[in-house]
Amino acid sequence: MKAVVIDEDNRPQWQDFETAVANADEVLIKVHATAINRADLMQRQGVYPPPPGASPILGLECAGEVVAVGENCSRLNVGDRVCALLAGGGYAQFASAHEGSVLPIPDGLSFVEAASLPEVFATAWLNLFMEANLQPGEKVILHAGASGVGTAAIQLCRSFGSATFITAGSDEKIRSCIELGADAGFNRHQGSFLEKAKEFAGDGGVNVVLDPVGGAYLKENLKLLALNGRLVLIGLMGGARAEIDLAALMMKRIRVIGSTLRARPTSEKAQVMNQLFEKVWPKIESGEIRPIIDATFPIEKVVEAHDLVSSDATLGKVVLSVT
Ligand SMILES: NC(=O)c1ccc[n+]([C@@H]2O[C@H](COP(=O)([O-])OP(=O)(O)OC[C@H]3O[C@@H](n4cnc5c(N)ncnc54)[C@H](OP(=O)(O)O)[C@@H]3O)[C@@H](O)[C@H]2O)c1
Repeated sequence: MKAVVIDEDNRPQWQDFETAVANADEVLIKVHATAINRADLMQRQGVYPPPPGASPILGLECAGEVVAVGENCSRLNVGDRVCALLAGGGYAQFASAHEGSVLPIPDGLSFVEAASLPEVFATAWLNLFMEANLQPGEKVILHAGASGVGTAAIQLCRSFGSATFITAGSDEKIRSCIELGADAGFNRHQGSFLEKAKEFAGDGGVNVVLDPVGGAYLKENLKLLALNGRLVLIGLMGGARAEIDLAALMMKRIRVIGSTLRARPTSEKAQVMNQLFEKVWPKIESGEIRPIIDATFPIEKVVEAHDLVSSDATLGKVVLSVT
């Protein structure tokens, strides 16, 4: 098969690679589309290695057709149109996926649209509803609101009854996030978001913060959280170190939760995917929640696609089509 292989200069090349095989618990997918995640850029630079046992090829999600089914699989059949969460291997013509990480493509969606769903919706669902136990009526801050994860999270919060405040890198992105369902936002290049977020939080504070920024935002996040607030840390784009006010943490009974999806056991990923299928897929099929795709590139143009994601100019996902 062909796959994106990273050369010695960290340049991705679309070239021959050993064809993926499915083990007994996996299905083999002929990939029609895959999508870019921020983690791919880090893996390409050599700072985010794949977990043990995962494919060395980039790509945390794909959409395509099932072409082979492992002997322990019971739910999927050859010919099924599916999308899958992967621990790696999506940037290729074939990818293997644990059956529990694979869902049918929601009715009415193309392969390109379906490829944009698994990683960001699984991340947003896992961290808002499973880790932070978000309840209807609770208030949420979403940092990097215009990211793939952010645009999924805005839509989930709107749909499940939570008001959101987002941060993003331009006024235009903030307008787009508000159109998607956010209630207010702040341009991160115009200073601290604290005062604007306080207007949103009101006297009570916010209940949940979903934060891929880390160190640079910790102090403000803790100030904004309400009694029993939850801060879910999913990324470190703003650094891994910060001073923490333990008194605020203790007095407000705040929980700080660190969370990654990729390295979790397949059983935990299957729980997330099952919940997505039950609670979110019907909303995608009805059009209430939709894939947000900024651009699509043929996979041979992966370098241009990565450059676009690195530029921080995107809203939602960048998808790679595979022929
Ligand atoms: N823990 C997990 O399991 C998990 C899973 C998936 C993703 N993530 C994390 O979630 C984040 C979003 O991922 P994604 O793939 O959806 O990203 P993405 O679509 O590539 O968007 C990332 C956005 O973050 C903003 N940003 C960049 N540098 C920043 C900084 N220093 N401070 C604040 N904002 C910054 C930029 O938007 P603006 O310029 O508009 O702010 C950029 O467009 C990443 O940090 C990723 O590692 C974590």
